[in-house]
Amino acid sequence: MRVPFIDLSRTVAPVTEQVKASWSKVLDNTEFVGGPTVAKLEKMLEAKLDVDHFIACSNGTDALVIALQALGVGPGMRVAVPNMTFWAPYEAIVLAGATPVLVDIDPDDLQMSFDEFAAGHRNFQFDAAILVHLFGWGSARLSEFRNFCAQEDIKLIEDGAQSFGVEYASKSIYNGATIATVSFYPAKVFGGAGDGGGIMTQDPTIGEKVRALCNHGRAGHYTYDYVGWNARMGGLNAHYLVHMMDKIDGFIEGRRKAEAFYRDFISDYPKDMRYYGCPDGYQGNGYLSVLSGLNKTGDEIAAGLLDKGIGCARTYPQTLCEQPPAQKALRTSELTHSKTFSKTVINLPLFAGITEEECQLSAEALRDVLQTRN
Ligand SMILES: Cc1ncc(COP(=O)(O)O)c(C=O)c1O
Repeated sequence: MRVPFIDLSRTVAPVTEQVKASWSKVLDNTEFVGGPTVAKLEKMLEAKLDVDHFIACSNGTDALVIALQALGVGPGMRVAVPNMTFWAPYEAIVLAGATPVLVDIDPDDLQMSFDEFAAGHRNFQFDAAILVHLFGWGSARLSEFRNFCAQEDIKLIEDGAQSFGVEYASKSIYNGATIATVSFYPAKVFGGAGDGGGIMTQDPTIGEKVRALCNHGRAGHYTYDYVGWNARMGGLNAHYLVHMMDKIDGFIEGRRKAEAFYRDFISDYPKDMRYYGCPDGYQGNGYLSVLSGLNKTGDEIAAGLLDKGIGCARTYPQTLCEQPPAQKALRTSELTHSKTFSKTVINLPLFAGITEEECQLSAEALRDVLQTRN
């Protein structure tokens, strides 16, 4: 492979020695589940992400289930979710006992369509919604989503698994959410040493409930206010993430530069490809390069890139409604935009530590694949 799609070793190398020393302290102090470093990480993240309450947890999927439970979402309730996203939001709704309703994407920002969501509410009377901030930015109409949900009493959960470091209206995107979640899966922007995640809110009552739900619904050691879950973070991951906090701004800056490189390169080839990026009002985090070929399918482009030694991904090659467990799910339309996009999308290598030369090789390979006629 001339350029890997992702290379995590470049983010690990700068912290390896500090992490090894910290992990040996974890063993000495048997700081295995929870503990002072988890609490320290939470305080650091509250400051960094401009939220009042950050509760660290086991992963971004548990974070979603707990966020739904914390807002009282359960059986008999209908929850809107975009048809184009990772599978976890759909799973979380089903695991919470509620009913998912699939909503199409806006073909320009690739996020859940506000117009279709608002029209869908007239038919389905949504009780809740999971708005997913996908690909390193969010909906161009985020404030309309927030206002509409507040007016219509729709419980809005913002899935920010992919949006660590994204700014909306010059603030952390998590700052304006009733409740938001994040994932520290290693390939995410703020990736951990194993699975991890978090739940954020500005509301102390919700925060307290979330903290209890992540720890078996505990009120005391053997007393329980809720039927919760074991979604706790361990000390090893917390130590790793605390060390990563020193580096994260530089890593995000590197991602943004790589993303800008691809955007500029690709703008010279408007007949062959389209580049998707942040709508106005956002500063993205460079999580993914999101492109579509105009004369080839995503699978054809991926095969051509791999042939040239360029790693790539297709996020996402199939939408939720095409997955067997969701084929009969309720939906607000034929979901045409998401289905069409998924057939053409391609992602070039983009990770913290990627070099300009690697971006150049990847972009040129993409251009050559697209300009080769079948
Ligand atoms: C949009 C989205 N939501 C939720 C998740 C689930 O996070 P995790 O893998 O930490 O459970 C992910 C990623 O993995 C994701 O991309």
